[in-house]
Amino acid sequence: MKDLQFKRHRRLRRTDSMRALVRETHLRTEDLIYPIFVVEGEDIKNPVASMPGVHQVSLDHLNEEMDELVSLDIKSVIVFGVPAEKDDVGSQAYHEEGIVQRAIRQIKKDFPSLTVIADTCLCQYTDHGHCGIVRDGDIANDESLTYITKTAITQAEAGADIIAPSNMMDGFVAAIRQGLDEAGFSHIPVMSYAVKYASSFYGPFRDAAHSSPQFGDRRAYQMDPANRLEALREAESDVEEGADFLIVKPALAYLDIMREVKDRFNLPLVAYNVSGEYSMIKAAAQNGWVNEEEIVLEKLTSMKRAGADLIITYFAKDAARYLNQ
Ligand code: PBG
Repeated sequence: MKDLQFKRHRRLRRTDSMRALVRETHLRTEDLIYPIFVVEGEDIKNPVASMPGVHQVSLDHLNEEMDELVSLDIKSVIVFGVPAEKDDVGSQAYHEEGIVQRAIRQIKKDFPSLTVIADTCLCQYTDHGHCGIVRDGDIANDESLTYITKTAITQAEAGADIIAPSNMMDGFVAAIRQGLDEAGFSHIPVMSYAVKYASSFYGPFRDAAHSSPQFGDRRAYQMDPANRLEALREAESDVEEGADFLIVKPALAYLDIMREVKDRFNLPLVAYNVSGEYSMIKAAAQNGWVNEEEIVLEKLTSMKRAGADLIITYFAKDAARYLNQ
């Protein structure tokens, strides 16, 4: 073995403290955003069958959830409403007394230090389950913008700190930005679901939010998983239209896209670690096939390594527990 030339990378891996010294990526509870599903009705704490550990809660159980988050040092939530009534124009999405508006008001009153992010979409609120208004079997893009903007404004009026539009209509950032500004909310940022793929990983969410399309699918507005340049075009136009944050969604199968978006644009980047990504790990862990704690921390860290500054994740509470240990 004389004269053998090689580098000794293992020098930096010798001990725990040495490894900590050279660790490049850190996951913090401040990076985590917890999604909550608020339903109309009383005394409801309904487990979502396909998402172990996740519940739909009514307003009278909402504060328990928030108490838990605060005790774990989680600082942000994204709120999804599950309304009792749906119609063809999603009226409950922009009703002042809609479930999401009431939930936001309650959280901001009782937990003023939490950052409340409002998901702005119509799919939970329309009887056809699409993210925009349907005319003659098609999604009417520009007409949808009017309703989506109304939704954003009522959410800001209710006290939302950030508006997060997920509907994938063209021009939604421009429309919402203008609507917020005209309504006196120029200080409220837009966290755009800029790069959102038509993904099978959303399956369990649609159980939780009752938002499955009743005909067709979302491929005429969400992106083809095969495309990368299109993701950059989507991000670019949202930056031009005034987005303050960019979301890439889903996360795990799209870490390459995250890295590219991060390298090209100077906005805070958010990974949406979606429902299917959660359920797969929960199911495997329940079978004893993977070590849940290790795998959760590994995958959340990999999203940060890929460039995400923040992560929307159903694992937020679990991860915070592990991090606080
Ligand atoms: C609403 C919306 C969806 C998700 C977040 N916002 C569903 C969809 O587009 O079908 C999915 C989140 C998840 O799977 O965790 N448009």
